[in-house]
Amino acid sequence: TRAKILVARAIFPETIEKLKTHFEVESNQADETWSPSQLADRLKDKAGAFTTGTERIDGALLDGCPHLRICANMAVGYNNFDVDAMTAHGVLATNAPDVLTETTADFGFALLMATARRVTESEHFLRAGKWTKWSYDMFAGSDIHGSTLGIIGMGRIGQGIARRGAMGFGMKVVYHNRSRLDAAIEAQCGATYVSKEELLRTADHVVLVVPYSAASHHTIGEAELALMKPTATLVNIARGGIVDDAALAKALKDKRIAAAGLDVFEGEPKVHPDLLTVPNVVLTPHIASATVPTRRAMADLAADNLIAYLTRGEALTPLNPAVIGAAKAS
Ligand code: GLV
Ligand code: GLV
Repeated sequence: TRAKILVARAIFPETIEKLKTHFEVESNQADETWSPSQLADRLKDKAGAFTTGTERIDGALLDGCPHLRICANMAVGYNNFDVDAMTAHGVLATNAPDVLTETTADFGFALLMATARRVTESEHFLRAGKWTKWSYDMFAGSDIHGSTLGIIGMGRIGQGIARRGAMGFGMKVVYHNRSRLDAAIEAQCGATYVSKEELLRTADHVVLVVPYSAASHHTIGEAELALMKPTATLVNIARGGIVDDAALAKALKDKRIAAAGLDVFEGEPKVHPDLLTVPNVVLTPHIASATVPTRRAMADLAADNLIAYLTRGEALTPLNPAVIGAAKAS
């Protein structure tokens, strides 16, 4: 008999069709918002779950899902997974790395440039009919080319942003990361390792691409904002919670830093109300990986992980590979 799986959010119809060639599929194509208990209820007889990064998979949920063997996340970030609890329950976790790297690095640059050059702020001004005459200092921002780019979190996406900055825009690129990269990779990216403090003090633009964890919670708060240049911009394409949004809203209001570009938020899809009222911030709804081909590749990778594991006991991008081959605990 075919394994039962749950697709927890709406996804490309083609992805559902592909999964149906292998599995009995229950899917949330209506994209209803499920409470944790509604999700648990639908997962209790399933062997696999297709998740998107918005569904929390933890020990309490897994206790009620004795048949579950894999959760495949259609996201590179997986802070919605309690991976230790999944391992303890014998449930494989997979994410969707690599396929979104270049697309997400492109967006990091889009947000950086929109922020530094005040693209959305000036568009709002124009649309509001306020453009009655030219003036010498109208929406004067800061330069990208030739400036110093500071990248916090030098994984694949951070490296992609570094390459764009160094090669495309002649930027001086500095980075901070939990561990220093090999000299060969540093050279390839045109990036120099510095302490977080030095990065914050010297960068004209700071881009955050660090995965979320308890250790990276509020990587940027009031103290870090105080170190930044008053002319600096801050871009967060990592995760909500990497930045203390209340402290950032205050720093923007007080012009402690010049501007920010944010694709992710603490408690999203809610946004801190003060961020909605300050003019010097560009806000986007968690779309850094959102191109049609990349979203398709991410969905395919999540589906292929489900197919590989439930039909062949293999996985393409496992996060807790020790689970593979180990007998399921329950
Ligand atoms: C998106 O935020 C992802 O983690 O893929
Ligand atoms: C993080 O996993 C990255 O790809 O940058």
